[in-house]
Amino acid sequence: MDHPITLSRRTFLIVGAVTAATVALPPFICAEASAANLARPIKSTLNLSVNGQSQALDIDTRTTLLDALRENLKLTGTKKGCDHGQCGACTVIADGRRINSCLTLAVMHEGSKITTIEGLGTPDKLHAMQAAFVKHDGYQCGYCTPGQICSAVAMLDEIRQGIPSHASASLTLAPQLSASEFQERMSGNICRCGAYSNIIEAISEVAEVSA
Ligand code: FES
Ligand code: FES
Repeated sequence: MDHPITLSRRTFLIVGAVTAATVALPPFICAEASAANLARPIKSTLNLSVNGQSQALDIDTRTTLLDALRENLKLTGTKKGCDHGQCGACTVIADGRRINSCLTLAVMHEGSKITTIEGLGTPDKLHAMQAAFVKHDGYQCGYCTPGQICSAVAMLDEIRQGIPSHASASLTLAPQLSASEFQERMSGNICRCGAYSNIIEAISEVAEVSA
């Protein structure tokens, strides 16, 4: 005997279609609801450490980490290139890992330690990676450079921690500090000026290997 609530596939599809038609809202109601949501941002408090300084922000929960850094904290060293996770210009270091700050909401980083290009060195005392980029002409327009440098610093740490990449010969043996590893691991940082060979030379100098 059939179970009382057993439905044939055909009946199931009909019921589904009717239900969907019943709950579907007219487009103008959806548009009004969206407009209302945009008009009333949901705010949240956020505490994080940026370049060693504690920061407390009261921000729209939709704010990306990139916009929080640039617009709320006025740390404009971190650049907005594509705003879609494709160029790496927005790379910062969050709790020791490099991330695309345009792809993550600021409120997801409650309590995090964020390092931006402003936190790596100062004009009087450059970070070793900054000094190497200057020495090897690792830039032309400089727009990608803050992201390149933050990415390179964290990337060397990744290799030293033994995290393999697609270019690594083994998933279990320690990866090498080598130009091919640097090229693979830096592939998420695009340089429209094409300063790639000089960037690899700069990274190689800091890593103390020949490019
Ligand atoms: Fe974030 Fe391009 S701006 S990846
Ligand atoms: Fe111009 Fe890299 S130096 S985009």
